[in-house]
Amino acid sequence: MADDLTALEAAGLAELGAATDEAALRAWNTKFFGDKGLVRAALGKLGTIPREQKAAYGQEVNQLKATLTAAYDAAHAAAKEAALQLSLTTNPLDVTLPGRTRPRGRLHPATQILRQITGIFADLGFQVYRTREVETDELNFECLNMPAHHPARDMWDTFFTTTPGVLLRTHTSPGQIHVMRESHPKPIRVILPGMCYRNEAISTRSEIQFHQVEGLAVGEGITMADLKGTITAFARRMFGPERQVRIRSSYFPFTEPSIEVDIDWPKDDPNRDRLTKGTGWLEIMGAGMVHPAVLRAGGYDPAAVTGFAFGMGPQRMLMLKHAIDDIRLFWQNDLRFLRQF
Ligand code: DAH
Repeated sequence: MADDLTALEAAGLAELGAATDEAALRAWNTKFFGDKGLVRAALGKLGTIPREQKAAYGQEVNQLKATLTAAYDAAHAAAKEAALQLSLTTNPLDVTLPGRTRPRGRLHPATQILRQITGIFADLGFQVYRTREVETDELNFECLNMPAHHPARDMWDTFFTTTPGVLLRTHTSPGQIHVMRESHPKPIRVILPGMCYRNEAISTRSEIQFHQVEGLAVGEGITMADLKGTITAFARRMFGPERQVRIRSSYFPFTEPSIEVDIDWPKDDPNRDRLTKGTGWLEIMGAGMVHPAVLRAGGYDPAAVTGFAFGMGPQRMLMLKHAIDDIRLFWQNDLRFLRQF
């Protein structure tokens, strides 16, 4: 091999031996194999070589290139391996550590029970119908058989807006009128869940806002037996398959006859006496057969169809189910309370 090539190979190998990290290796590569590198320069000398030595010289340069390239690849692989070993010993990775669990969100208990209620009624063939929270006096009261100054209006302490005749609905019952006017003359089987507002002093037992779920069925030949069957099916899915349902007569202006519905409370619940005031029975909703005046306000002919309606308070049901003694907890957004559901 030509002397200068032998020297170049020796220098290349020696300098490669000294280059132990990535940066030094890259510098070496540029110095020897770059566009202006030493190997290219050696090849450039080909023009000055006497013709008969050209072929031999060319081969020698190729030989040199192969040797240095192989040595470079080996050094590069070794440097990589060394870097990996170093990182493994300085930042050891403990694959046996338990993973970190992410905090999970959850649904508000009020949302959970609304979904449970709508799920049960969906199984019974009831569709969900949503209506407005800002209502007129006409729908909240008059169409429900309570003309102006009717004494039954006192059952609902009302928030009025500054617009005459416009108020925050005190119950979901005005939704009955919306559904009837929209569905007439077809039969109806819906529930109406939503927020209601009452102008009351806030206490452990009453809030100014709360949910109600209204139910309405209208059609030919609907009787009290249908109402009782529907309520019983609901109560058993909601509160347990052994539940008994008891019906007491009551009064609401928009139903005739009107009833209140009680369920028996499980005998093995230690809270039974306190919750039921010693009677064993607990009220879960108001209900009744839709008053003819209400059917008429909705556009139906009371001589041709009948209907039943009911109204219940999901917050009250949650309080019963979980022995919650303060209704204010529902809208305070205290995570210690909400996390329990
Ligand atoms: N609207 C009543 C209330 O807020 C609840 C109610 C009772 C609804 C009887 C009904 C019903 O549909 O038939 O107290």
